Amino acid sequence: MEIWHIRGGNRLRGACFVQGSKNASLPIIAASIICPLKSELMNVPQLRDVDAALRILRHLGCLAEQRGGDVYIDSTRLSGSSIPHSLMVEMRSSVIFMGALLARCGEARLSLPGGCQLGKRPIDLHLAALRQMGAEIEEDAGEICCRAEKLRGTEIILPFPSVGATENIMLAACAARGETIIRNAAREPEIGALQDYLRSMGAEVSGAGSGSVSISGIRPNREAAARIIPDRIVASTLACACAAAGGDVELRGVDPGQFSTVLHFLNRAGCDIISGSRSVRVRSSGRLSAVGELSTAPYPGFPTDAQPVLMAALLRAEGRTAITENIFENRYRQVPELRRMGADVTVSGKLAEIWGVDRLHGAPLTATDLRGGAAMVVAGLAAEGETVICDDGHITRGYERLDMRLRALGADIYLEY
Ligand code: EPZ
Repeated sequence: MEIWHIRGGNRLRGACFVQGSKNASLPIIAASIICPLKSELMNVPQLRDVDAALRILRHLGCLAEQRGGDVYIDSTRLSGSSIPHSLMVEMRSSVIFMGALLARCGEARLSLPGGCQLGKRPIDLHLAALRQMGAEIEEDAGEICCRAEKLRGTEIILPFPSVGATENIMLAACAARGETIIRNAAREPEIGALQDYLRSMGAEVSGAGSGSVSISGIRPNREAAARIIPDRIVASTLACACAAAGGDVELRGVDPGQFSTVLHFLNRAGCDIISGSRSVRVRSSGRLSAVGELSTAPYPGFPTDAQPVLMAALLRAEGRTAITENIFENRYRQVPELRRMGADVTVSGKLAEIWGVDRLHGAPLTATDLRGGAAMVVAGLAAEGETVICDDGHITRGYERLDMRLRALGADIYLEY
């Protein structure tokens, strides 16, 4: 159990480097096995989920180690194609090993993945696409067994631009005969990052970011390297923390275009936002205004992952904000906890309505999921008195030393293990 202690009221000031992206690192780590190759990844965050992905690689017979932000992988001696349930349930991204193992071994045995409980989170789009490429897939009591003598390239039209399904198809398609085209593909920056990594190993992939991704079935064969892109959700969280607590913070090493929708709403709430090519400065008086209506959507829309932290920043904003959560059916799990701090938030189905209150007070809370836990940290920074968050390891799954980063900016926060 990790216990966060936050004494609110301090303004945040200074500069802060933003970690590499968890959601870019994980599919790239899975992709490292599609051919017998060595990979070197830089700027990989040190997180529980990354560690879980490296343990899966080692279970499969690969060499995989992390030293600081550098990850070295040698998948030449991969010796297995099945992943035990105990490793699969550690995170959602374990499902991306399905496409990677199919590409490398022509078979994959795994179970349904874990990850934050944000609703049903089925993998039907992944399975339908791989079946369309010629994979035979049997499902039995949560166990999945996929086989493909030879995958074939084809046109796949996704009914919804699922990030994970797009990634799984991209990996499987590297070993398919002929070209695969994914229509209505996810356009998130993490898809572009995966494309760049696959290209560095010699794959022919194009179109990431456009909604139509093409992969020629040429098996890549070069040693690969990647520098992981900055984490746009961590950047959004730090920006929301500054907005809520008040202060003047420069986020360095970020790509402001990748979280411009979040910056847009912070600006609408009354923050000054000054974007550079690789940095963003956020200035906030700590007294914000409500932003009206806001809806989450696939990229380039407002990211669902930033919804809880923006909600936390707006709890004291004057007026009414209405959020519609369109991606996950259960992404308001933080709300009952925030209400314990005096927040006025009501939820009805997809809609959350926030009426800004004058003050929040510290309270004992329990982290419900990764971003919901981060939202409680943001709210704690803006509350009077002490907030104590009991967390079963959700926040540290996705945030590298968030306590240290915030403390360096002047927050009164420490993490007890
Ligand atoms: C990725 O999850 C991210 N995870 C999530 O971040 C993020 O919230 C999500 O994309 C949306 O941006 C990683 O990259 C590891 P989806 P993923 O497939 O791939 C439905 C975080 O906090 N769907 O785009 O699982 C699904 O139920 C995490 O860092 C199906 O119905 O997201 C959801 O409603 C949480 N069938 C929607 O699509 C499928 O087969 C979006 O899911 C697949 C998805």
